Amino acid sequence: MNAKNRISTVTVSAPATIANLVCGFDILGMALEEPRDFLQVSITDSLGIQITNQDDFDLPTDPVQNVAGVALQAMLNAYPHPAGFNLVSHKQIKPGSGLGSSAASAAGAVVAANILLDQYFSSEQLVQFAMAGEELASGVRHADNVAPCVYGGITLIRSLLPPDIIPLSVPELFVTVIHPQIEIKTSDARQILRKNVLLKDAIIQWGNIAGLVTGFLKNDHALISRSMTDIIIEPVRSILIPGFKEIKTSSIEAGALGGGIAGSGPSIFMLSADKKAAIDVQNSMKDIYHRLGIDYNVYVTTISQHGVRIENESVYPI
Ligand code: HSE
Repeated sequence: MNAKNRISTVTVSAPATIANLVCGFDILGMALEEPRDFLQVSITDSLGIQITNQDDFDLPTDPVQNVAGVALQAMLNAYPHPAGFNLVSHKQIKPGSGLGSSAASAAGAVVAANILLDQYFSSEQLVQFAMAGEELASGVRHADNVAPCVYGGITLIRSLLPPDIIPLSVPELFVTVIHPQIEIKTSDARQILRKNVLLKDAIIQWGNIAGLVTGFLKNDHALISRSMTDIIIEPVRSILIPGFKEIKTSSIEAGALGGGIAGSGPSIFMLSADKKAAIDVQNSMKDIYHRLGIDYNVYVTTISQHGVRIENESVYPI
């Protein structure tokens, strides 16, 4: 863009994300290269937000009931000038998959809109706006999907109040994800969790979170592997996911460093040090779901360095 042109329409792709990364409930998340949603956002002369869906998910187009709509509205409320947006959404990340579908919509929309507003807002503010979408989707303002979607890579949410988001270094790991074709609502998967944690369990969990973050920073695969343990959330939620234990055991036998439930499920993810191991893991996962007669989608991908990505932009002269 030069000084005489202004971007009028931008198309972005917003990545799937994996929240929690096993032990870091609500505080760790990772952006994936694939799958991605595509969002085209235009700045309009009229005020307000119009939404069109170009996919089969039948999501609401009323902006107050749409996660991208409420995120864009939170942004407009903080913007000191009158503005409006037109959003055309083409989703590929299935809602209720555990792969941050609502986060991709909300974060993708606000990152795109911020380009149209000449980057008026900071990434930290965009995360705040996108969390309005998460609140609509799950009843809770959590940032472990929207933060990696905005920042890319792996992010640590040290605190939400006040916001303190720390992008971590991005290890060159491969990610295998299997998505059994059942839907688990994040709100339901949160409802079943115990409200209290024993101190002895918290100590084990703290050790694993610190170990996992250190493992990412030092690219220490053995440390990553032994830290991907969750004794608080996984034992409760995994009962909702068919074949979970079997998939986890066989993936590690096939060469995965470790893994577990993607976000609130039902997808299961595994990290591997190289592509061959990631494909072996994929084959072992597929074998199990074939045998159990469960339909699935499966991905072998990498960690996305950049999160939401510009795919196309058009400018008009001013
Ligand atoms: N941290 C959230 C949860 C992520 O596990 O409920 C939801 O994708």
